[in-house]
Amino acid sequence: MDKLLIAGGIPLSGEVAISGAKNAALPLLCAALLTKEPVTFTNVPHLNDIGTMLKLLAQMGVKVSRETSRICAGDAPKEVPLGDTVTLDASGLNNAVAPYEMVKTMRASILVLGPLLARAGEARVSLPGGCAIGARPVDQHIKGLTAMGAEVGVEQGYVHARATRLKGARLFTDMVTVTGTENLMMAACLAQGETVIENAAREPEVVDLANCLVAMGARISGAGGDVIRIQGVDALHGATHRIMPDRIETGTYLCAAAATGGAIRLTGASATSLDAVIDKLMDTGCDIVAERDAIRIKAPRRLAAVSIRTAPYPAFPTDMQAQFMAINAVADGTAVMRETIFENRFMHAVELIRLGADIKIDGNTAFVTGRPKLDGATVMATDLRASASLVIAGLVAQGETLIERIYHLDRGYEGLEKKLAALGADIRRVK
Ligand code: EPU
Repeated sequence: MDKLLIAGGIPLSGEVAISGAKNAALPLLCAALLTKEPVTFTNVPHLNDIGTMLKLLAQMGVKVSRETSRICAGDAPKEVPLGDTVTLDASGLNNAVAPYEMVKTMRASILVLGPLLARAGEARVSLPGGCAIGARPVDQHIKGLTAMGAEVGVEQGYVHARATRLKGARLFTDMVTVTGTENLMMAACLAQGETVIENAAREPEVVDLANCLVAMGARISGAGGDVIRIQGVDALHGATHRIMPDRIETGTYLCAAAATGGAIRLTGASATSLDAVIDKLMDTGCDIVAERDAIRIKAPRRLAAVSIRTAPYPAFPTDMQAQFMAINAVADGTAVMRETIFENRFMHAVELIRLGADIKIDGNTAFVTGRPKLDGATVMATDLRASASLVIAGLVAQGETLIERIYHLDRGYEGLEKKLAALGADIRRVK
């Protein structure tokens, strides 16, 4: 199995392009199930999770065509991904089933439930189990679809939902759920009458999905706020949609530059969806300039520790907590880091401790006291963002860091080692 070998201590410098957002692309690809006409997506990141979703859709009878574009800027490591163009044609949808074998490798498969049910009148989706970061139930997805008139049961590990036609309803989720909001919003597009989702997730990925659905003929208002209204229509049509830039990938590179004392420019990036992260990075002492389609960061010699508390958008994202723990591990001072979204999202802490970090965990709170240096060691990636935090720590640590189980990284960071190598890092994939 591939591993990453990093020789730390080099401040990152230069320019790198940000890819399309994984967490926007996954629900968007599922939205193509809602229409008989082809839907084309551009700026689709080349990631394992996207490959899994396309395989899942293909086995449902969706025709998938994928074009990969790359600009080769001289040496191979600098080959820049441009984002894939993916066209999905769900006119031949013939199998409304998401099997266990696929759902177990990617929980986001649950996003087919709403669109399948709305379009085909039936869906059988394997119930995702727990995962490394928490139990992650899907009860709110089921509650919402039931309120829209679906008959939903759990049989032999599968959610089995049926409805001749969903009916608009007033929905209230017990907590803010991103994929829950997305699933219900997609289902409501083809329901009869008006659906109102209260306590909706306000994440930019929800807005990107709503924009695409509107381009497909859906009638949606309020996305980006906590009340979304959807007037159901009889059918949706084809459209072309460009996937938004990945705000978590952007934040991860900003943290890598900050931790290494570097100065980089991220192109194709948007600062507007990153206020909470940029604010905290400025508190560490970094200089950040937002340009039209780019962000520049320049780090001081030593960062100041910053306390954070994760919460739904627009507050500080749970998907950036691990990367900030790596920053705080080498910053000046003690940070208090509270995780409020997932119950088990501190798995990276024990690995960071193996690199010499001073971290104490008490329930959902981590106390991180910065050390002037970390030391390279062999560590294990446990989930996507945990792996990103280990990469950042490895870029700072003295000597070599070997990261095992990097398949987690390939799920969510397009060309990570190529992009970091282009920024001057000494990083390579080894067997
Ligand atoms: N929850 C329930 N019941 C539900 C739905 C959610 O109890 O029916 C709970 C979850 O267990 C969690 C909280 O509500 O404690 C919020 O979970 P949410 O549903 O918002 O998470 P998600 O939709 O499964 C998405 C992202 C995650 C990101 C979270 C939070 C995608 C494909 N995934 O997950 O991304 O951490 O929102 O922002 O959009 C990642 O990219 O590394 C990642 C894990």
